[in-house]
This record gives sequence, structure tokens and C-alpha cells, in this order.
Amino acid sequence: MVISTTYPAAEQQVQSSTFASRYVREPLPRFKMPKNSMPKEAAYQIINDELMLDGNPRLNLASFVTTWMEPECNKLMMASINKNYVDMDEYPVTTELQNRCVNMIANLYHAPIGDGETAVGVGTVGSSEAIMLAGLAFKRKWQQKRKSQGKPYDKPNIVTGANVQVCWEKFARYFEVELKEVKLKEGYYVMDPAKAVEMVDENTICVAAILGSTLTGEFENVKLLNELLTNKNKETGWDTPIHVDAASGGFIAPFVYPDLEWDFRLPLVKSINVSGHKYGLVYAGVGWVVWRSKEELPEDLVFHINYLGSDQPTFTLNFSKGSSQIIAQYYQLIRLGFEGYQNIIENCIENATVLKEGIEKTGRFDIVSKDVGVPLVAFALKDSSKYTVFQISEGLRKFGWIVPAYTMPADAQHIAVLRVVIREDFSRSLAERLASHIEEVVKELDSLASVVAIGASHVDSVVDAVQEGNKGGTAARKTERDIQAEVITSWRRFVENKRTGVC
Ligand SMILES: Cc1ncc(COP(=O)(O)O)c(C=O)c1O
Repeated sequence: MVISTTYPAAEQQVQSSTFASRYVREPLPRFKMPKNSMPKEAAYQIINDELMLDGNPRLNLASFVTTWMEPECNKLMMASINKNYVDMDEYPVTTELQNRCVNMIANLYHAPIGDGETAVGVGTVGSSEAIMLAGLAFKRKWQQKRKSQGKPYDKPNIVTGANVQVCWEKFARYFEVELKEVKLKEGYYVMDPAKAVEMVDENTICVAAILGSTLTGEFENVKLLNELLTNKNKETGWDTPIHVDAASGGFIAPFVYPDLEWDFRLPLVKSINVSGHKYGLVYAGVGWVVWRSKEELPEDLVFHINYLGSDQPTFTLNFSKGSSQIIAQYYQLIRLGFEGYQNIIENCIENATVLKEGIEKTGRFDIVSKDVGVPLVAFALKDSSKYTVFQISEGLRKFGWIVPAYTMPADAQHIAVLRVVIREDFSRSLAERLASHIEEVVKELDSLASVVAIGASHVDSVVDAVQEGNKGGTAARKTERDIQAEVITSWRRFVENKRTGVC
């Protein structure tokens, strides 16, 4: 890399062009920090140019995470980008905004909060941190109880569906809790509450239900789980609780399915997490965990800081973090209000329906997502013998769409689906366009498949003709077929290696 640091002043003026290529004559170092500095314009331009090759976040339909916010909120976020959230002494207002968000969310989930009481909860970096904290609280509570009963407390487990997001596997591995997963089956892609309750034993610290499965958006039946588990608790004398992972559904159900009972209205639900950065409509980096009451959060997990002259309890995994997301969450809650969230979610559901109908019209897919759930469309090919969903995902890339394809977890791993998450910024016209692009990709793959088939049958007939008395036919047949097979195999391998993960 050559940077014009030694140029005389006049020459530097000429050099200070906006285009970094005028400064950089050699490849940029990738492994070691460069010896010399570079002009700020050059650094900006180089990085900005490289970032142009990233996907367009608005077209990234793999993610639930917010990719658009109002300019007024962007302004607030930029203004607080230099505030470390943990400096509560210096930024008491930011702390207060967090507490207001916790109260609003706990109220939305019907936490039994008495007059003059504040809710128990905390802002986190996302649902993953929220789940680690909720899991730790369950583990500690269970251990304390077992210790007090003089029983062993070294084999805690947690019961979930096999469809849980990877953060539950992380929790289990990092905090040494066995993960007992209820297997799925073809056509049923969420945790079966009856099977989950069967798996509960005296070492179960909680059953985790998902409000909005990552894979299909479907809501698990928390009410039934609560009923079955209440019965089991009565029979056994245990008091196994429920956690609801409402990462996506926590900002959906209260607004569009208010009668659905999944939250603190159910007595065994002791804690709930939600991602502020999903349907909470804030950019990446904020989540929430709320507890039913302070009895559910063991006091020895809470660190007390009294920088403010008043007691400031903290329960987080890390110390420093940004304040912008918390402020943005408060902005969204008061700017949109119940009415605003409701409008936005209803609109997402309508756009999901438009897309679903467009996909159904092709006649090639089975829809595996449900109408009640997170607004997304998950769909599987009716016939995967000629091409796979991975090839469709790859084909959509050329239009700029990022649509993940993945296989289901055990025992439905033979089912592969595509999933489109409908966010606020995915308009009806984009839904219509995507449906027509899916149709186009399918048609292209159809014609490619028939070219391969025609090619093979053409080779067959040529070979048959040649084979009449001509031994060279076998060689010709092998070569053509081998080439076709090789192309298809390596293409499939390429596509499979590029599977997009889901979050
Ligand atoms: C059900 C569920 N739980 C947890 C998570 C993790 O959430 P976060 O990205 O906010 O850490 C996700 C992410 O998609 C999810 O879908």
C-alpha cells in the first residue's frame, strides 16, 4: 500500500481527491496494521467501497432484525452514540428510559405489578443475552431449592423443542445445563407440549416455549403447556416453571392476537424475553428480559451499584455497551404507541399474505408457516427431484434477494424450506415482485432440468444408434453423461456450501 504521506503540501492538495484509489497503489494489508497513517478521506473511501459489496440490508429477507427507522430516531441514536450505558451516574436519564421500557413491556405482558411498584427486568444486547440471564435465574433458583432439600443439584436440565434457536444451545453448553429437546416430525415443526411435559423430571429447571419459532414463525401452545405442567407439578410436588422465548412474537401477539394467552396471565410463566431489534423495531443491539416478580430473580445474581445515590441493581453479562438502542426503543414505544405497532404488524401480515398467495399460485410449493404467528412465509418444494430450495435461494440472489434455505431440525431434517421474513420496510410491491421473481427462478430451473433430461435422452438415442455395431458408443455416452453429472454435482455442492443461516 502506498500512501502519499511524504508528498509536499501542494501535491497533497492534488492528492486529496475523494477517490481512495488515487492514494492506494498496492493491496491493503489484511493481517498486520499498516505502518503509516492514511488520510481520513482515503480510509473512508476504501472501506465504503468494500462495503458496497455487502448485501443490501433491506433486501435481506433472512433476518427479523430491523433495517429501517425514522430519521428523527436515527438522529437521537447518533446523538447518543458516545454514551456508555453503564455510566449510569453520568447518564441517569438514559437509565430512566431503560426502566420505562421495562415497565411498558412488563405491562404489555400482563405482569402482576401492584400500584406504585416497578417491573423487574433489564435491557440486554439481544434475546440471546436475555435468555442467558433468564436461564441463569432458573438454574440458581432450582439449585437453591435442591440444596435446601439436601438433594443433588449437579444435573440441571432444560426442556425445549428441537426447533429452538442456537442461543439455547449456547446457554446449555456455556452454563452446563443439559438440553432435552422434543423432536419434531414432518408437518409439525414446533414443540409438542404433551411430549415436553413427559420429558420434565425433578432436575428440570424450566420448560422453554417459543412464541414465534425461528424456523416457521409458528407460536407454540403455551397455554396448553401451562395446563399440562400444572397437572404434573401437582402430581409430583415439583414446581417446574415456564420461560417464554418471545424473541419475535413478543412484539406481535399483544397487538394483533390480544386474546392469545401466552404471557404472565399463565401462572407458570416466570420470565419472558423479547428482541427489541426485531419487531420492537429498533436497529440491531437491543433485547429485553422481564420477570413475573422480584421473587423469580435470585438476589445473589444481582449486583448493586449506588453511583446514583440510590440503589441501581444490575444483572447483565457484560459491562459497557451503547445507549443508542435503549433510547431508540423508548422512542418507538412512545412514538408508535399501541396503535402504531398494531398498524405496522397488521400491514406486515397483509404483505405476508400477498407473498404467500403469489407463492401458492406457482403450484410448486407447500406453505409450512401458519397464518397465526410471526409474519413470515416458510415454504417447501412439493417436488425436489429436479432441483432443491438451495438452488432457488441461489437463483434469487441474482435479483438481489437474500432468502435463506435450510433443513429442519431432528426428526424432520429431510424437509428443506425457504423462509421470507416480512418486516416493516418490506412493502406490498416488494412482496409482489418477490413472488414473480420466485416464479421466474422456478421456470428457469424447470427449463434447465428439462434441457438436462432432453440432453440425456438425446445422448441415449445417439448412443443407441451408434451402438448398433459400433463399440465407440459406450465411450461417447459416458463422456456426455459424466460431464452433465459433474456440472450438476459441483453446482449442488457449491449451492449447499453457501447455505444462508437463519437468525
Ligand atoms: C426464537 C428466537 N430466540 C432467540 C433468538 C436470538 O435473538 P437475538 O438475535 O435477539 O439474540 C432468535 C433470533 O432469531 C429467535 O428467533
